[in-house]
Amino acid sequence: MAAGKGTRMKSSMPKVLHRIGGRALVQHVIDSARQLSARHIIAITGHGAAQVETALADQAGLRFARQMPQLGTGHAVQQAMPLLDDDGMTLVLSGDVPLTQVDTLQALLQASQGTQLALLTLQTTQPTGYGRIVRNAAGEVQAIVEEKDATPDQRAITEIYSGIMAVPTRWLRAWLARLDNHNAQQEYYLTDVVKFARADGQTVAAHLIADAAEVAGVNNPVQLAELERAHQARQAQALMLSGVRLADPARLDVRGQLTCGPDVEIDVNCVFDGVVSLGEGVRVGANCVIANAQIEAGAVIHPFTHIDGEKAGVTVGRHARVGPFTRLRPGAVLGEDVHIGNFVEVKNTTMAQGSKANHLAYLGDASVGERVNYGAGSITANYDGVNKHRTVIEADVHVGSNSVLVAPVTIGAGGTIGGGSTITKDTPPGALTVARGKQTSIANWKRPQKK
Ligand code: UD1
Ligand code: CA
Repeated sequence: MAAGKGTRMKSSMPKVLHRIGGRALVQHVIDSARQLSARHIIAITGHGAAQVETALADQAGLRFARQMPQLGTGHAVQQAMPLLDDDGMTLVLSGDVPLTQVDTLQALLQASQGTQLALLTLQTTQPTGYGRIVRNAAGEVQAIVEEKDATPDQRAITEIYSGIMAVPTRWLRAWLARLDNHNAQQEYYLTDVVKFARADGQTVAAHLIADAAEVAGVNNPVQLAELERAHQARQAQALMLSGVRLADPARLDVRGQLTCGPDVEIDVNCVFDGVVSLGEGVRVGANCVIANAQIEAGAVIHPFTHIDGEKAGVTVGRHARVGPFTRLRPGAVLGEDVHIGNFVEVKNTTMAQGSKANHLAYLGDASVGERVNYGAGSITANYDGVNKHRTVIEADVHVGSNSVLVAPVTIGAGGTIGGGSTITKDTPPGALTVARGKQTSIANWKRPQKK
């Protein structure tokens, strides 16, 4: 269900598209459904339907049912029924409840045994606002009563309905046909199916859990931030239990998929986005932002480094050292033992084993051989205003400080470029090439005098 308005977010973006851990709320729910190998996954859209459907357009196999206007949760599910098969089970999830564990959903499906209605319920000291689970003296579930329709006695019940149920599809179809909106909110309540199940002589199962975060919904930015922390805490916990040493689990943000080898250490305030892997023994200093990158075993990323591989990716080779204050952009491929220092930007460039660019430099669209030393302040002038060109720096070259290599150009193996040179033509191997005004001195030069 993703048709609700989300007024309290006070945002022009539909609520279910707000993000937790870098993924839209509704995406978390869809991903859970996928992990359960659902036969069909249907998103019920309404408010901001076009925006939600566009955002989810790349989801293989996902289908949409539109609910216009929005007349309640029962009415919402009715819109999806034409897309469902009678021989299956329907699992109803809310697009704004992102942190339900797949294990929990599996347990709920088990509780239904494929034959009966099963509700996911929570024991809580703060039941306000939720539907209450009404049981009879024998403890059997009788009904869900919405807060607005509840008697004072029912309001005192501390077992609440999470908004998540599993139900045999053919029963769901029959019960939805019997819904009315004769209640305090004049809505078609999905929760009324419990009553109908009982009236048909069926038992209703409840899978009771205690972790409120699993069923917590997002209604406003405060809850969004709370669930973000809950999600991050969970991820940090899982990383630590797999052996990763986090300086402070409360100061880590993983917004994608982070995979770590043994003996990885991560200092405070690091953000990982997209798909990132850290090999054995990798150390990441404080305040690094790393996205879409593969950091190989033994590499050290010093503080304040920004790595973003976007689509092309970034590779940092074994035992390489990067930072502090380095920027690695898409297509940066650093070999073993490469050193990249402060205020160095590397884009679409391969650097072979043992090469170094330690200070204040730009390497774009370049192929750098082994053991090259790329001096402070040097740049590859890779862009002529229309096209990008490549710079080739062969093995064992030393590029002096403050050089400009105007691409396309090749610096021959073992060559040296004198500091301050502007190189526009290929240079021969082994030679010293200097391309700048010769230094002259004018003796007894007098500066102009003030009169
Ligand atoms: C619902 C349950 C309540 C439960 C609570 C748990 C009903 C009648 N009540 O109440 O028992 O304790 O969830 O969070 O089901 N939606 C639509 N179309 C609509 C109305 C809602 O798609 O016409 C979607 C919303 O976008 C949301 C979900 O259904 O994802 C729940 O709707 P909401 O209005 O928040 O229900 P609650 O009043 O919280
Ligand atoms: Ca709600």
